[in-house]
Amino acid sequence: MPQLKIESLDATLGAVLTDVDLSLVDDDTWQAIHAAFLEYAVLIFPGQNITPEQHIAFGSRFGNIEEMAPGVQLVYLSNKLPDGSLSQDGEHLTQILRGVEVWHTDSSYMPLGSKGAVLAAQEIPPEGGQTEWADMRAGYDALSEEMKARIADLSAYHSLFYSQSQIGHKVEVGAGYGFQDKESPLRPLIKIHPETGRPALLIGRHAHNIPGMDQDESRKLLDELLEFACQPPRTYEHQWQPGDVIAWDNRCLMHRARPYDHHNQARVMRHVRIAGDPESELAA
Ligand SMILES: [Fe+2]
Repeated sequence: MPQLKIESLDATLGAVLTDVDLSLVDDDTWQAIHAAFLEYAVLIFPGQNITPEQHIAFGSRFGNIEEMAPGVQLVYLSNKLPDGSLSQDGEHLTQILRGVEVWHTDSSYMPLGSKGAVLAAQEIPPEGGQTEWADMRAGYDALSEEMKARIADLSAYHSLFYSQSQIGHKVEVGAGYGFQDKESPLRPLIKIHPETGRPALLIGRHAHNIPGMDQDESRKLLDELLEFACQPPRTYEHQWQPGDVIAWDNRCLMHRARPYDHHNQARVMRHVRIAGDPESELAA
């Protein structure tokens, strides 16, 4: 196989990696992939068609797998039910899938936030259903000095109950991953990346209620930061082809799925989430 090729995107984040087989990653290739992960934060591997086992094995190179239920390392994010029918509006699953169409970082609502994720496209709707990422390192860098000073010591609570309630989805305790209990982790608005040392904004749909501010002021500030940060050249939207694999760094990015016709079109993604390191991703 020819040597791994890495081509950066025309944005502050992202690179396309070709001439590599993710089912056969040797140590030298892994070193190059890991260096690219820290630099570009979103790594696009077109046309890999990896198996579930290879998917878990590749995810494990990044760290421990975050289990969404005891022993469950791989999850299908899909509106297609086991009988082949599509989940309909109003159902819990549909509401969860609508929720991820809002900018977020995975598992910030858990005591231990996630390090990253590896997503593999299985079935893609003919329209919509892209995934978009936003670079929160560049988002932080582009803030005014006044804003950097204003948010330097601020934190926000992160909750999946909160973010789902914002799209009209009321969820009971115990209704699945992220709904274990109502305790919300408190996380600083500025996260220092444990491997690169770069500061990044840690915001998104799960973030709410900055201590020391009233609810309106807090919401206004979080919305303002998000609106500012998620703009070109700090964003990349991927038009998936079945077989594509994308790995990303949750410690310095936000992402969202783009809307599609949930009623009539299937979107099936296979997902492995990488657990954060307790030293850097455990909430206070
Ligand atoms: Fe996500």
